[in-house]
Amino acid sequence: MAITYNESGKIFKLDTADTTYVIGLSSEGYVGHIYYGDRLAKEADNYLLRMEEAPFTPSVNKREKSAFLDFFPMELPTGGIGDYRESCLNIRNEEGRMGCELTYASHEIYKGKNKLAGLPASFGKEGEVETLDITCRDEILGLEAVLSYSVFEKENVITRNVRVANTGSQTLKVEKIYSACLDMDNENFQMISLHGSWARERQIQRGPLHYGKQRVSSLRGESSHQEHPFIALVTPETTQQQGRVYAMNFIYSGNFTAQAELTQFDSVRMTMGINSEEFCWILDPGEEFQAPEAVLVYSGEGLGKMTRSFHGFYRDHLIRSAYNHKKRPILINNWEATYFDFNTDKLLDIARTAKADGIEMLVMDDGWFGKRNSDNCSLGDWTVNEEKITGGLKHLVDEVNKIGLKFGIWMEPEMISPDSELYRAHPDWAIQIPGREATQSRQQYVLDISRPEIRDYVYGCISKVLHSANIEYVKWDMNRQLCDMGSIWLGRENQQELFHRYVLGVYELQERLVREFPDLLLENCSGGGARFDPGMLYYSPQIWCSDDTDAVERLRIQEGTALIYPLSAMGAHVSVCPNHTVGRVTPFETRGHVALAGTFGYELDITKLSEEEHKIVQEQTKMYHKYHDLVREGDYYRIASYRENHYYDCWAVAAKDKSEVLVTYVQVLAAANMHSRKLRLDGFDATADYRLEETGKVYTGEMLMKAGFLFKDFWGDAKSRLYHFVRV
Ligand code: GLA
Repeated sequence: MAITYNESGKIFKLDTADTTYVIGLSSEGYVGHIYYGDRLAKEADNYLLRMEEAPFTPSVNKREKSAFLDFFPMELPTGGIGDYRESCLNIRNEEGRMGCELTYASHEIYKGKNKLAGLPASFGKEGEVETLDITCRDEILGLEAVLSYSVFEKENVITRNVRVANTGSQTLKVEKIYSACLDMDNENFQMISLHGSWARERQIQRGPLHYGKQRVSSLRGESSHQEHPFIALVTPETTQQQGRVYAMNFIYSGNFTAQAELTQFDSVRMTMGINSEEFCWILDPGEEFQAPEAVLVYSGEGLGKMTRSFHGFYRDHLIRSAYNHKKRPILINNWEATYFDFNTDKLLDIARTAKADGIEMLVMDDGWFGKRNSDNCSLGDWTVNEEKITGGLKHLVDEVNKIGLKFGIWMEPEMISPDSELYRAHPDWAIQIPGREATQSRQQYVLDISRPEIRDYVYGCISKVLHSANIEYVKWDMNRQLCDMGSIWLGRENQQELFHRYVLGVYELQERLVREFPDLLLENCSGGGARFDPGMLYYSPQIWCSDDTDAVERLRIQEGTALIYPLSAMGAHVSVCPNHTVGRVTPFETRGHVALAGTFGYELDITKLSEEEHKIVQEQTKMYHKYHDLVREGDYYRIASYRENHYYDCWAVAAKDKSEVLVTYVQVLAAANMHSRKLRLDGFDATADYRLEETGKVYTGEMLMKAGFLFKDFWGDAKSRLYHFVRV
């Protein structure tokens, strides 16, 4: 039993293999947080709710409601009634007044887990997951709130979501609804979050908490390049292998907020949810609102264990694609090879040369439709440009298939160019504020896909393209962020629903796509990696990580991404040098080793490579086939971080049964008179011996992990090597 209820103490205990989460009810019926941390073997107690210990109020000299509410560890704090910390649920009544007080009404514990209407969510069979739904009520508002907790025992993951229902007779406004809250005592916490920019996504940052609120968020209509729906609070001594880590990640692809608030009483409130700025949902009598799911991981053994919990959880309980546990075809994408300047002959040349080197799929990127020869037109006109693709799309795909390659295509379905047939016919389909000239970004507007008829049009376009030829892969791009938030279709009261309705529209479209084409390999993308989030993983097993394909820049981007997401999900390609984004020159081998830590593919004009480079590509495609099962399914260990040490980077992937371990080492900067570097490895069986395939030498797993391994004989910058250890 993962979830138990102690009726006399009114305590819920949620157990995973190594963690325990405890919830208790106060005498008034407030749902309080007692504990999250290492697993408790015995029954839990509720004294940590500190119900007798309310802050001292001299005039009353006893527990006083407001002082109590501002102090009590709440599972879902509500706004307007005296808890002055960050609230998670703000409800405004018909008279325009804001206040909500939730108390326990009933609960249900069941095996399995329900779907979340219209939203991506984790899943699991009976035996894999158990769920606790605590129903709370505010009788004055006529509001019901269901706090739902799902416990994934094996993965050490607890997910949370909240659903509110208007059971009264007045229209309510949901002005804020977060999905998770964790009230804890400060343990001298530091906060880890991910920041970035275009081509520099998911950089790890870590710093101490200070009094007040520290938050990351997005108001860009997507999870964004800039900040990421993830935070972790860690104790100061935390490394990969030690320290307490409390992490939250959000299964959502739109505006979010994630925050840690250090309070006057040295307690910390950690929250995550839809950004409440520019959000207000009208809830008429009888209606419900479902907030997205947050994923909670606690690790008492450092960041490495947290990472492996997320990886395993996403691979087994979030990604649905038929490709999830399968080898992906090695693809070659023509974007960096040709940009908009290509035609059928050029693509077939690339395909023929690629085939000879062991590549398995050609992906035709942006520029094949309408009259698009640059990024200034035609989004929305999803008909093939026969001046470039002579003979038509089917002809091209058939020819590529004859060469022996699969075929994939790029689309950006959510967008509309001002210079397009679609815009000329339907200028009101773009998101806009009437009377104000909408801001263009990359010379494009965004379609108002909150509107069903626009979704039908968009889906019709995608489906028609996919039916027109044997297309086995789609790169779904989204190249601008949202602004001028106005919908011609929505009413005055509902305009602040647009950001969320937009995300629901994206989800509906992708759901239709994966249902109609279950064997399609879908790769999400957003100007590189601006929508690399768990929401999108529900639809696509891989996401383009970044437009920066430079091997050195990728070390940091992939380290930050892999902090949470499995390597099998990280779109990574080998491209040419000097690198188009940063101008750096790195060895071809290194680019391959870095891309091997992701989905692996190419993004270059293969017809222009030298003989020597072709030989390397042939070796790399073999390398991919040799290691992909291990990289995709194995356990990831971060050994050293170039971000921290400025000289070298190292990671390992170990088979689940520890029968083999693949270590990648990159010497980013050579250092004078440094003959070898000793690093302690991880992921081995300490009782077993391993043969290093490259030299034949046998090592004990114990010595590799406790004493270390020597990385040596590197000459020059950005040099890398793989080390494949096989158990003997
Ligand atoms: C985005 C993607 C690129 C490429 C271009 C095409 O920037 O991230 O990979 O597809 O769009 O316009």
